[in-house]
Amino acid sequence: STKVTVPEIRSRKGVSPIAMVTAYDFTMARLLDEGGADLLLVGDSLGMVVQGHTTTLPVTVEEICYHGRAVARGARRAHVVGDMPFMSFQLSPMHALENAGRMMKEGSFESIKLEGGEEIAEHVRRIVAAGIPVMGHLGLTPQSVHAMGGFKVQGKGDEAAERLIADARILDEAGAYAIVLEAIPPDLAQEVTAAVSVPTIGIGAGAGCDGQVLVCYDLLGMFRELTPKFAKRFAEVGDQIVEATRAYVDEVQSRTFPAAEHSFKPNGPRRAATVP
Ligand code: KIV
Ligand code: NA
Repeated sequence: STKVTVPEIRSRKGVSPIAMVTAYDFTMARLLDEGGADLLLVGDSLGMVVQGHTTTLPVTVEEICYHGRAVARGARRAHVVGDMPFMSFQLSPMHALENAGRMMKEGSFESIKLEGGEEIAEHVRRIVAAGIPVMGHLGLTPQSVHAMGGFKVQGKGDEAAERLIADARILDEAGAYAIVLEAIPPDLAQEVTAAVSVPTIGIGAGAGCDGQVLVCYDLLGMFRELTPKFAKRFAEVGDQIVEATRAYVDEVQSRTFPAAEHSFKPNGPRRAATVP
């Protein structure tokens, strides 16, 4: 099957919902790709779910690129997006372009994503002008966790809602090909979706968006440290991993593993190597 492209993603607005999921390694990328995910996001959420930090702030461009290369090798059909980490794009439009370029070269990404609205519009324009597709991200932007006072629902109240709609329009005009809407009321997400020409991809933003995104370990029921209300578990793989590990440990202890079928055949009678 051929690769999902940016023009194809744009053309699906109002036509067919887009399914995005995060991925951080080759094995998972292969499975999620086989399952039909349209986009694989190497999110800076890896700071939390892979590295075990309490926020996404420590993640570096180098780390995103390392995971990106692994995911890219696993993605046969899915489009692979790289998340620009904290302080890799905020300094200036040129700094943002430099790091976006680095991510395309070193991370094997096909597009990049960055958090923010009006304050990064020029950054988006510069990156898009260089031929790098940009995905926006509004609402709960985890890189601003300390300013928000925690991982809290955003866009509440008329003023915040107006600001969010304005930011989405600005990103659209700046050339973003899609916009993630995180943790905002569903009616606001629907309004934003109607206000922009590009697909909105929601997480905790209701069913009115043009697509959805979930962290793979949330979707699979593997991340147990923190369970956001919006994270539907489509499986309980975490339980299965714990059970499988218990079974393995038991069999090692009882010497029932490895059995004969997991062992190589015994050597024949030993003899000296013959010289032809
Ligand atoms: O880092 C991430 O996983 C994300 C998605 C939740 C949109 O930004
Ligand atoms: Na992110």
